[in-house]
Amino acid sequence: MVTCATRHYGPEMGSSTFLSIPIESDSMDKNTLQQLHAIVGETRVLTDADSLQSYGLDRTTVWTAAPCAVVLPGSIEEVQAIVRLANSEDLAIVPSGGRTGLSGGAVAKSGELVLALDRMNKVLDFNAVDRSLTCQAGIITQQLQEYAEEQGLFYPVDFASAGSSQIGGNIATNAGGINVIRYGMTRDWVLGLKVVTGNGDILELNRGLIKNNTGYDFRHLFIGSEGTLGIICEATMRLAPPPKDPAVLVLGVSDFPAIMDVLKTYSGALTLNAFEFFSDLALDKVLAHQPLTAPFEQRTPYYALLEFEQTTPEVLDTAMGLFENCVAAGWVLDGVVSQNISQAKNLWRLREDISETLSFAKPYKNDISVQVSQMPDFIRAVDDLASQRYPDFEVVWYGHIGDGNLHLNILKPDELSVEEFNQQCSSVSVEVSELVQAFNGSVSAEHGIGLLKKPYLSYTRSETEISLMRQMKSLFDPKGILNPGKLI
Ligand code: MLT
Ligand code: ZN
Repeated sequence: MVTCATRHYGPEMGSSTFLSIPIESDSMDKNTLQQLHAIVGETRVLTDADSLQSYGLDRTTVWTAAPCAVVLPGSIEEVQAIVRLANSEDLAIVPSGGRTGLSGGAVAKSGELVLALDRMNKVLDFNAVDRSLTCQAGIITQQLQEYAEEQGLFYPVDFASAGSSQIGGNIATNAGGINVIRYGMTRDWVLGLKVVTGNGDILELNRGLIKNNTGYDFRHLFIGSEGTLGIICEATMRLAPPPKDPAVLVLGVSDFPAIMDVLKTYSGALTLNAFEFFSDLALDKVLAHQPLTAPFEQRTPYYALLEFEQTTPEVLDTAMGLFENCVAAGWVLDGVVSQNISQAKNLWRLREDISETLSFAKPYKNDISVQVSQMPDFIRAVDDLASQRYPDFEVVWYGHIGDGNLHLNILKPDELSVEEFNQQCSSVSVEVSELVQAFNGSVSAEHGIGLLKKPYLSYTRSETEISLMRQMKSLFDPKGILNPGKLI
């Protein structure tokens, strides 16, 4: 596979290099550029330095952007024509959504053509009877949520970057977020997809049906495939009835095991929309950078954030009764419950703003999961490992503990360069991955594999599985033009 002109491949993760080495950007050859102009129009092919920089990176901080051009198609037919051109010219394509990913899945570091779905951002159809919405892949997640709300419905997949991520990227990475405990992952909301495969075929997958047992469900193969099999162009999404009067409860918790006791107590008695946690260090960082106040006067080692629907007035009484039981058991030291939507939003920000707040410190991110039942032992083991192997680094804990997903962020000290820091952290990653494997867990719970987690894929997937993935890739993308080097 060649990219636009001469290839300049950057360092591969998984080898000993983990460095941010600037890569010279290739310019696209004139003939290919003219053909692209003919497909989308001249103004829809960007080659200026700013566009190459911003479209060439996601939210990872490891690589240097070096695409040869950015193309902005306006229809599935244009996407198909670009993919066909890429096949004939042997041109690598990086599909691009909101580029909010944290694993390098949308990074173009080797002279690829970035195919950005920004212009394909329309709602195409809404059906109240089916409670479904068909949209183009470039619609911003929050716009889809707002559209659903205007129809009296609810799109429940939500996360801090919903304001800039696109639904196509959510589907390509099977995004999770804060409501998974109640509503599942993006996969659970996709009724149908229209994709252009790496071969240039248009596939219409599942056509919005709830029941359709007619053989292999390719829709699910494309969900989470990180742009390696095809380009998601349209999606039909299922919508839910809106939650009734959600309340947010933040509890100050004494230690890690107590968080699990609190989870057991609340999930046994209430239907929870979310059960998140964060450490006091995470709160410290958020309060230092955001105009927010601590949930209560007395700081505690950890915090659990719960959301539940107040379907009846008794629900709040139940929640308060459980709070008293948790205090009596010594698990919970303090607590606060939202009285209105604005308080609920502010409490959520204490958790949701962590990721963006930490980004200033170029953190080394872990996104790992085990079965919820394994969490207490797993957390103990990860905590031991982190304190032994990161004695001099600040380790910030937070995550979606209700669904077994921990985010462990190691902050870069000012005196270390990004390269030195990443090098040191990546050596610990092998040990973290071994631990994850020993617990039958996942090295990437919700951020995907991309470039960043590729060296660790084999700790969660067998060699046979990885080989089948490669065969699958060669079926849908025989020339390997789509997102080369990502995932497998
Ligand atoms: C989150 O849970 O805040 C997101 O997955 C982002 C992150 O892990 O930093
Ligand atoms: Zn997360």
